[in-house]
Amino acid sequence: MQAGELRKRYLEFFRDRDHAVVPSAPLVPKDPTLLFTSAGMVQFKDVLWGRTPPSIPRATTCQKCFRTTDIENVGRTAFHNTFFEMLGNFSFGDYFKEGAIRLAWEFLVGELGVPEDRLSVSVYLDDDEAFTLWRDSIGGPEDRITRLGAEHNWWGPVGDSGPCGPDSEIFFDTGADRACGPDCAGVGCDCNRYSEIWNLVFMEFDAREDGTLAPLGRKNIDTGMGLERTSAVLQGVETVFETDLFRPIVEA
Ligand code: SER
Repeated sequence: MQAGELRKRYLEFFRDRDHAVVPSAPLVPKDPTLLFTSAGMVQFKDVLWGRTPPSIPRATTCQKCFRTTDIENVGRTAFHNTFFEMLGNFSFGDYFKEGAIRLAWEFLVGELGVPEDRLSVSVYLDDDEAFTLWRDSIGGPEDRITRLGAEHNWWGPVGDSGPCGPDSEIFFDTGADRACGPDCAGVGCDCNRYSEIWNLVFMEFDAREDGTLAPLGRKNIDTGMGLERTSAVLQGVETVFETDLFRPIVEA
């Protein structure tokens, strides 16, 4: 499937499930604490934070992003980019963990036909609710649900303060032969075996500048699926640079 088709199918899937389709915001945000728009949630930060009341309960976007926090990986791995497009669905006090997990699985497996046995997930260390949802509601085998610490499964805030929370990541297994070696840490490893294609953030905390966390008044969902990475999965190629998004540039 070409990337353009994936972009269209994603937005239509969530539009058909009561999400308003919102255009990508500019790469340079109005937020004075951020140089670039680095995630789909940036344009919704004040709503997720509870500073602005939501005008809609659900939204979906394809957001142009520029991210430098993992720039040391760009050019070294098969999957990292500085500029990329992030497909996302958002709930502002509407559905939460169960809805986000169910919708993601329905899209990946039901709509796109990604084989279930190539997918693994990670959850935040003590997030028993997410673990149980993956195991019991989705029926994922326990050995493909990994608990990882905050360096992997906690998202945000962007900038010095703001909404954040534990997350659950979905990985596509590109094959054991692509692992970095026999001691590969699996989904916790940055090597080329597991491609993190989708991050589901359960945004329920306000990170304050003094380092403390306070519960948000509303629990929200912020998800981000990599258009380039998921295109690589659907096109059966080993790196994002071989997808139809990059191939013409590489060839030129
Ligand atoms: N904000 C999360 C991320 O950028 C999910 O969209 O990964």
